[in-house]
Amino acid sequence: MSKPHWRRAHATDLAAISTIAARIHPDLPERPDVFAEKMQLYPDGCCVLTAGDAIAGYGLAHPWMQYQIPPLDGFLDRLPDAADCLYVHDVAVLPGFRGGVARAYVAQIEQLARSSGIPTLALVSVYATRVLWERLGFHPVAPDAGLRAKLATYGASATYMLRELADQVSEDRR
Ligand SMILES: CC(C)(COP(=O)(O)OP(=O)(O)OC[C@H]1O[C@@H](n2cnc3c(N)ncnc32)[C@H](O)[C@@H]1OP(=O)(O)O)[C@@H](O)C(=O)NCCC(=O)NCCS
Repeated sequence: MSKPHWRRAHATDLAAISTIAARIHPDLPERPDVFAEKMQLYPDGCCVLTAGDAIAGYGLAHPWMQYQIPPLDGFLDRLPDAADCLYVHDVAVLPGFRGGVARAYVAQIEQLARSSGIPTLALVSVYATRVLWERLGFHPVAPDAGLRAKLATYGASATYMLRELADQVSEDRR
């Protein structure tokens, strides 16, 4: 089998994405239509990890505003006119296919942000993934009251994190 690799997600991948999401995030359920909307609004940021004929993971990202968190299982409706970050909504990979693949997805998203003139990557870290995201150059941001309330919908361990791209050496070249 060829090495798993990321490619742009197609509408026909929606069932596989939803199946993986339900398995990996049983406590943070989202409707397939909510994934589909992100794929329609910003296909460049939505990828699947292919392993032979199978889909082993997905990554979803879209332009957004820093310190704003889209509601879990909520529609974006539209992308902001003056986005100042690429927001990584989720990266989820089946256990047997992990190891270097989040780094590879983030490297793609970094290139996308740079080529779009977007200066920052953002995400909400859930579970115990904060150290993982720190390895990929993100840092936690102390939330104000508004941000804290929105973070609470992502669970107790949720942490808002940013990675500024200006003046950073590409993670790929480190
Ligand atoms: C998050 C996920 C996609 C990461 O996939 P992965 O292929 O294991 O990630 P990578 O190997 O690219 O990890 C990136 C870096 O974090 C490190 N890392 C991986 N898991 C880690 C962990 N549990 N704790 C600390 N660091 C970790 C890796 O060693 C790597 O650093 P390095 O390249 O300097 O060695 C995968 O673990 C997953 O699907 N988890 C469940 C869903 C989830 O939690 N998604 C994130 C929601 S915010």
